[in-house]
Amino acid sequence: MNNINTEAIESEKKALAETGYGAPAIKYFIEKQYMGDIPDADHISEMVGTCGDTMKIYLKLDNETITDAKYQVLGCPGAISSAMAIAEMIKGKTLSEAKKINDGHVFNVLENVPSKKHHCIQLAVKTLHKAINEFQNNVTYEASEPLQCDQACNNDCCSKNLIK
Ligand code: FES
Repeated sequence: MNNINTEAIESEKKALAETGYGAPAIKYFIEKQYMGDIPDADHISEMVGTCGDTMKIYLKLDNETITDAKYQVLGCPGAISSAMAIAEMIKGKTLSEAKKINDGHVFNVLENVPSKKHHCIQLAVKTLHKAINEFQNNVTYEASEPLQCDQACNNDCCSKNLIK
């Protein structure tokens, strides 16, 4: 990684910490370890938040157990860090265990997010619950029109190249 990138990341981390994101939330947001798709996913589900941001979740299952999970997120750092935390939390859990994950559990893992970003945690949790409910009720995923970032939100994630 070159110095310019390192400086940009450090300055992003500092800005996030100053706005109230906890260290784990910042790490999830910067690393985006579970961002992307699973080509042979057993279930895919998508949700649009009241803010207009969008999440798509991919689940890989072995019977009732989640063996892999990824999210694609067009949204803010709160949305991205919440989605990454959930993807990590649900690996190895059964569907019924994963269904019990709520906003408070995710908040505790992230340690802190600004209060105006609590709805972003809700969006990530609701996307998970929707996916599990759909899978258990044999509802298959129907892709919506591909979203462009400027359709999804008014944040500046794209211009800062924060969305993968
Ligand atoms: Fe829309 Fe965070 S999910 S502002």
